[in-house]
Amino acid sequence: MIKTWHLKDGRQSLVLSATAGRLPEIVYWGPALPTEEPLESLAELAVFDVTGGMLDENPPLSLCPEANRTFPGHVGLVGRTQVGQNLRPSFIFKSDQQTDEALALIYEDQTHDLRLAFHISLDPVTSLIKAETSLESNNPIHLDWLAAPVFPVPTRTNRLIEFSGHWCSELQAHETEFTPGARMRDNRTGRTDHAHFPGLLVTTPGAKNTTGEVFAFHYGWSGGHKMVAEELADSRRQIQFGHARASYPSGTHFQTAPLYATYSDKGLNGAAIRFQKHLRQKTRFARKTRPVHYNCWEAVYFDHDLDELKEIASQAAALGAERFVLDDGWFGRRDDDTSGLGEWWIDERKYPDGLKPLIDHIQSLSMEFGLWFEPEMVNEDSNLFRTHPDWILGETDQIRGRQQLVLDMSQKEVRAYLYERISDLLSNNAISYIKWDHNRVLPVVDAAQAAGTYQLIDQLRTAFPNVEIESCSSGGGRIDLGILERTQRVWLSDSNDALERQRIQHDAALFLPACVTGSHVGPRTCHTSGRVLSIGLRAWTAAQRHMGFEMDPRELDEAEAASLQTVTTWWKANRDWLMNADILRLDADDPAITAELHRSEDQSGFVIFSAQTETSRQALPLPLRLTGLKPDTTYHIELTNRSDISNLSRGQPALKAGPITASGQVLMARGLTLPWQFPGTIWVLEGHRIERPSQ
Ligand code: DGJ
Repeated sequence: MIKTWHLKDGRQSLVLSATAGRLPEIVYWGPALPTEEPLESLAELAVFDVTGGMLDENPPLSLCPEANRTFPGHVGLVGRTQVGQNLRPSFIFKSDQQTDEALALIYEDQTHDLRLAFHISLDPVTSLIKAETSLESNNPIHLDWLAAPVFPVPTRTNRLIEFSGHWCSELQAHETEFTPGARMRDNRTGRTDHAHFPGLLVTTPGAKNTTGEVFAFHYGWSGGHKMVAEELADSRRQIQFGHARASYPSGTHFQTAPLYATYSDKGLNGAAIRFQKHLRQKTRFARKTRPVHYNCWEAVYFDHDLDELKEIASQAAALGAERFVLDDGWFGRRDDDTSGLGEWWIDERKYPDGLKPLIDHIQSLSMEFGLWFEPEMVNEDSNLFRTHPDWILGETDQIRGRQQLVLDMSQKEVRAYLYERISDLLSNNAISYIKWDHNRVLPVVDAAQAAGTYQLIDQLRTAFPNVEIESCSSGGGRIDLGILERTQRVWLSDSNDALERQRIQHDAALFLPACVTGSHVGPRTCHTSGRVLSIGLRAWTAAQRHMGFEMDPRELDEAEAASLQTVTTWWKANRDWLMNADILRLDADDPAITAELHRSEDQSGFVIFSAQTETSRQALPLPLRLTGLKPDTTYHIELTNRSDISNLSRGQPALKAGPITASGQVLMARGLTLPWQFPGTIWVLEGHRIERPSQ
């Protein structure tokens, strides 16, 4: 007997089927099917043939491929009994519950006394699938691997896009061919990590930002993930995601994090805007307007002097900043990174009257105040470590990271101490923002560590619902949909080099919307690359995301300050719609151009940012083809920063003279002709739909 289930939202369909009470397989994942589609025939149609040298039946590529069904690839569950016997369960259907948008399936294995549950839902607003697996056992077991519901991808795909990176160079997209055998990523760092952003895009040949089919995945977990992308000898392909290998302690209940997935037939952008929308909804905060940040890290580092900080705050406010974030160095004896972590008391040497005088000054400038913490970490040179050496995660002879050790967040005493310290500071000071840092990889991989951190953040968010949190981890080492369930912003990278940022934030837009992505105007000479970049490029690059400044404002000359004020004023005037806009990456024909179109939610207006990141091979700018517009609608487009046109642009492209009007069809099929520009500069163009007078 065949049993089928269909999740649909008018844009995509996910159909599962199962025979004889066995675990179900996804037999269709793609464009929306007609409501009357005969699902049993679809399931029969999906059955592969069998030929010589094969088993008499193809072992199912189910939501959890089973060893006991002789599955020839990576199985979905690997575990052992307490006495070390391999678990080889055969799960049988127990119950199901289904609506159009959500499905719960329960299976059991009587031999080992196990229950396996799958929860899969399709959000009708974002069109994002969320899929989780959980396992319960009557007796304690060791679990080495549990996959979130396993998705097949069709054989017409040929390319895997994964993300790696390192400090100051996050979210590097890497492309490999989908070939026979398995490609595996097992992130053993215990955190999301720069090197392992947990996303994967599987595409059809030639898929680009604006065209082609994409099967997109993201594992929403901050404790390190494992991914398997495998092509079996019979040509079927599977994608598995779960916690990093052997993350779980032995026990009776195990749960994967949610695996998010979506199918797009509109290129990478079609998937990207669904993740962006999901995160816009998740991180929506009570106060809708995102304030312009000022962060003092690159201005003073550990060298805190009250009068100097007040002067810096005054100048930042004059430039347009609305929130001042006091970074590392305000607590314990923290004069460099060798000591003080864990001592979450205000340093009386630097702040004899507490933080109040600084906060009062900041508030008198109509700015909010935010404070840096690194709660999960401790220096050996700290009273906390001296008193509680038993609170440390891992062995005592482990290699240190940034001279620091990690607190064991699974211990409730550790969480209670951190909660008491942080809540005391939040209760006694006007702090509306936390920058929550995490500056090293972990000595062990342990799901309880990330779970403990989630618990602490959740407890703080419940007690202080008006305090926003930014997730930072040496820049972008902890960016994932798990941490973003409970935080409102990420510090994408410690690189404030605008050219590097162009690349990093552009690739991050495959998942992250502008409103959660912190982007700051750095110093004239970048501290992490040594490069000198113009204020125009630095300011407009920050204005593409949640804008902020992170330099000593006293270094700005008059012209630079004026330029920064202009861009900041522009950002403030547009932020309410920009922070809700979809970021559509443009397929620029010139590899020297990084270009994006930010389209308002109601699709009536847009801004284009087109950065010339290096020298072009050809003499003149190539037409820039837009995307996401309505072909038969007329648009009005204007070059916002026309004053940046250089004297080496000697011709008369229409945009130099003033606004242009054109149909969406012309703009998408032919494209805009932009004036010639210097490398290291950016064009900003604003467009809107011309409303037809009603007849
Ligand atoms: C690493 C972060 O990424 C920086 O922005 C800064 O907060 C430092 N840590 C402080 O130690």
